[in-house]
Parts: sequence; structure tokens; C-alpha cells
Amino acid sequence: MNTAVAAHAVPTDTGAIAVRGVSKWFKSTDGSSLQVLADINLTIPARSIVAILGASGCGKSTLLNIISGLVTPEQGEVLINGTPSRQFNDWRSVSYMFQEDRLLPWRTALHNVEFALEAGSMLHSERQSRAREALRLVGLEAFADAFPYQLSGGMRSRVALARSLVLEPCILLMDEPFSRLDAMTRAQMHEELLRIQQLKHMTIVFVTHDVEEAVVLADTVVVMAPRPGRIRDQVPIALARPRDATEAATAQLAHQLKSLI
Ligand SMILES: Nc1ncnc2c1ncn2[C@@H]1O[C@H](COP(=O)(O)OP(=O)(O)O)[C@@H](O)[C@H]1O
Ligand SMILES: [Mg+2]
Repeated sequence: MNTAVAAHAVPTDTGAIAVRGVSKWFKSTDGSSLQVLADINLTIPARSIVAILGASGCGKSTLLNIISGLVTPEQGEVLINGTPSRQFNDWRSVSYMFQEDRLLPWRTALHNVEFALEAGSMLHSERQSRAREALRLVGLEAFADAFPYQLSGGMRSRVALARSLVLEPCILLMDEPFSRLDAMTRAQMHEELLRIQQLKHMTIVFVTHDVEEAVVLADTVVVMAPRPGRIRDQVPIALARPRDATEAATAQLAHQLKSLI
């Protein structure tokens, strides 16, 4: 791999995210206003991995939705590659992997991955070869023609990951993507994701309530506090990779983070 060429080809701020003074209110059922996020400030360098960690209901998904441009905050703004998200026009370089795999049951794995490319004007043959390549990246090339019901939970997650990767995103946003998997499959997915990040140099922002997952994957863990959602702490994780959740240093950091949530 020619990393020197790759480094020159990609401007250094491609994939950088900045959240500036973001606050968000939602209307409650009785018509009153509920503040969900209060003055969120985050600087996420390009090609880094950031975990957003916090208890259920503290606004993690809302923050990710705001970063993705799906939800607009009442105050503050998000910059992507230095451009305010209102003016940012390259959303195809931002992928969002939801908590559920959202696979279409009537489509094969290959056709589910291809789906992400159908909005563009790409030739069918080109779509197919890119979708196959994405399936190969997640180790599922042999299951291209399988339907979702024929796949295990881990394999379905891989298909969803392939669908997120097929547009070659600079930024990958993930909302508790592996929370429904058993511990062993989840650990495999962590390895896969880190391998792919090494290869593709994406910025990854993922939401989790799993402290071990945050410590094993992230360069920085952003710990949120609830009501209203705010940033309690940002903890850099300087441990060497690959990390093992059962190792003393990792476990100690996880313990420390648990005391913060
Ligand atoms: N569209 C919405 N309308 C009203 N309230 C919402 C909406 N989305 C989320 N909320 C509320 O905002 C708070 C934070 O939700 P969410 O961001 O989903 O938290 P988390 O992902 O950390 O569990 C919760 O109290 C939730 O009920
Ligand atoms: Mg959530």
C-alpha cells in the first residue's frame, strides 16, 4: 500500500467533524419543551475513532442524528470538513449505520448492498462489482446470493456494514450497531471494523452504552451525562492495539469510565 500517495490524495481535514455549541429541545407529549442536549462542543479529527458513551436516554442518538444532518439543532452548528452542515453538499461521503440492520428481506445480501448505490447514475455492472467488493471487505463474498433470513445476526451486521462502506465514506456514523450481537460475534465485528478503518482511514463516530466496546475501539471516549444531555468528560484511550477487554489496563480504564456514567 502506498500510504504517501494516499496521504497526499486526501486533504487533511476530509472527515473532520466539529460540533459547536449545539443545544436541542424536543416537544413533549404535553406540549412543553424538553431540553435534550445542552451546549455540546466536540472536535473530532479526521480518521479518528470516537465513542459516544452514556446511559439510555441521555441524547446520544440525537447527537449522532444532528452530526448526520438528519436533525437540526435549535442552537449551535456542526462543521464537516470545516463547512457548516447546512452548506455541506457531499453527504454521500457520510454513512450512517443504524441500530437495526434495516436489510430488505426480499433482497439478497448483494442486492441489499447495491441498494446504497441505486440513487446515483452508476451502471448496473459497476454497482454489482462495487457491492461484491464491499461484501469481500467484510468477509461475506461467499454469501452474496443469500437472503437475510438465511444469515446469522453477525452476518446480517456484516451486510449492513458492507452497505455503509460501499459508497467509500470519509465518515462512518454508527448507532449501537453491534448491541444485538452475542459477545463473541461482537468481538469479531470489532476486529473487522478496526481492520477496515486501518485500510480505509475513515473517521468513525459510534454511539454505545457498552463501556468495554468504547475502550476496545475508540481513540477518544466522550462520556455524556443526562437531563439535559451534555458532555461530562472526554477520555483519550492511549492503549496499544489490538486491545483485549480482559487485559488489566483495558479493564481498569473501563472501570474508570463506568464510574463516570
Ligand atoms: N423525536 C423526538 N421527539 C421527542 N422527544 C425525543 C425525540 N427523540 C428523542 N427524544 C427524547 O430525547 C431524549 C434523548 O433521546 P436519545 O437521543 O434517543 O437518547 P439515547 O440515544 O442516549 O438513548 C429522550 O428523553 C427521548 O425520549
Ligand atoms: Mg439511542
